[in-house]
Amino acid sequence: METENFEEVERKLKRYNQEHLLDYYNNIQDENLKNKFEKQLENIDYELIDSLYKKTTIPIKEEVGNVEPIDYWDKERLGGKYDFYENIGIEAIKAGKLAAVTMAGGQGTRLGHNGPKGSFDIGLDSHKSLFELLCDGLKEMGKKYGVEIPWFIMTSEENNEETTEFFKKNKYFGYEKNVHFFVQGQLPMVDTEGKILIGENGLIKEAADGHGGVYESLVKSKMIDKMKELGVEWVFIGGVDNCLVRMVDPVLMGLAIYKNVTGAGKSVVKANPKEKVGVFCRKNGRPNVIEYSEITDEMAEATDAAGELLYGESHILCNLFNLEAIERMGSNPLPYHSAFKKATYIDKDGNKVVPDSPNAYKFEAFLFDAFGELDDMVILRVKREEEFAPVKNATGVDSPETARNLYNNLHKHIEIK
Ligand code: UTP
Repeated sequence: METENFEEVERKLKRYNQEHLLDYYNNIQDENLKNKFEKQLENIDYELIDSLYKKTTIPIKEEVGNVEPIDYWDKERLGGKYDFYENIGIEAIKAGKLAAVTMAGGQGTRLGHNGPKGSFDIGLDSHKSLFELLCDGLKEMGKKYGVEIPWFIMTSEENNEETTEFFKKNKYFGYEKNVHFFVQGQLPMVDTEGKILIGENGLIKEAADGHGGVYESLVKSKMIDKMKELGVEWVFIGGVDNCLVRMVDPVLMGLAIYKNVTGAGKSVVKANPKEKVGVFCRKNGRPNVIEYSEITDEMAEATDAAGELLYGESHILCNLFNLEAIERMGSNPLPYHSAFKKATYIDKDGNKVVPDSPNAYKFEAFLFDAFGELDDMVILRVKREEEFAPVKNATGVDSPETARNLYNNLHKHIEIK
């Protein structure tokens, strides 16, 4: 680093109480490691990290805003309109206007699988990984409509190498020319004193910046440009851990096109008013998601004349946007939320510390915080047992066992049909 730049970094480290990084840096012997560490020191936004840490110690009550229910369409109750929307979607899919994005940059800490979550085998007879199940869905629908749907996979610095190796080893499930990887952004982790941690690899410990990083990463990595070259206009964005995800849904797409909106989201009805899920709503007139921690009991239990929950449409990380919307959402910074996690680190004496309880803050942006950028969104309620089987925990709710059962039930049902 040039002396001038380094002096600026030194000043910042002092100003933001991160001088331990300087001490550590000065003692690095390995030239290669030192260069990498230096680049990290240069690129960190210390002011941002400082303000995010401060928010963890002095909880700031976020302005909830004016929250109202949002209209939704129920896929089961579209009646004669079902075919109408479906045909519009099919036309667009056949014209090659759809791409799929799978967000696979998360750490999967709750599941505790050793490797990227997408490589996890949920225990089906086929022993297919989550990635392969998702790829099967794309191939099947592509075949149905005579197209090959491009698949963009978001990884993180932490799992990119392992993920790409996994695809190579599995010959990309026969889908190689349609697979594109891109890496999401990351932010340093801090301890309970706000000090940036050093990781086991001797570098500053950074973690993926949340699924909200997807828009900015699509733009920065120029995947948006690639999509444009391919003639793509609509992008389905979903998580890697829902083994029933339907990334290609002509009804959702037709509805969005016909209603002339830039975004669409799928929902499943809340299992009960107390279920801990975020629900679609309007905030200050714009589409949004209100988290369970923000909703009052009264709102959670309120029903309409037909007895349906007014705030009952759970956000399941299955959304569709046009390219212009992604570019818009990717150009404005999202707020970061903090999560208290277990993080192995190197202490000031050079010893590796493996904590057995959470010890560090990780900062994440949430994808739905960007929905307010959109003028409007259509929400399509789908059936939980057909489209939502997430793998979050090692056992119990949303575990490999529940996902496997839902997957087997649905596929048995399809075969009988
Ligand atoms: P979750 O919020 O459930 O996180 O991610 P996770 O990493 O899978 O699991 P935990 O919380 O550590 O146990 C929902 C989806 O968003 C992706 C995940 O890979 C998953 O598909 N995600 C999450 C990212 O791509 N990047 C992130 O930074 C966070």
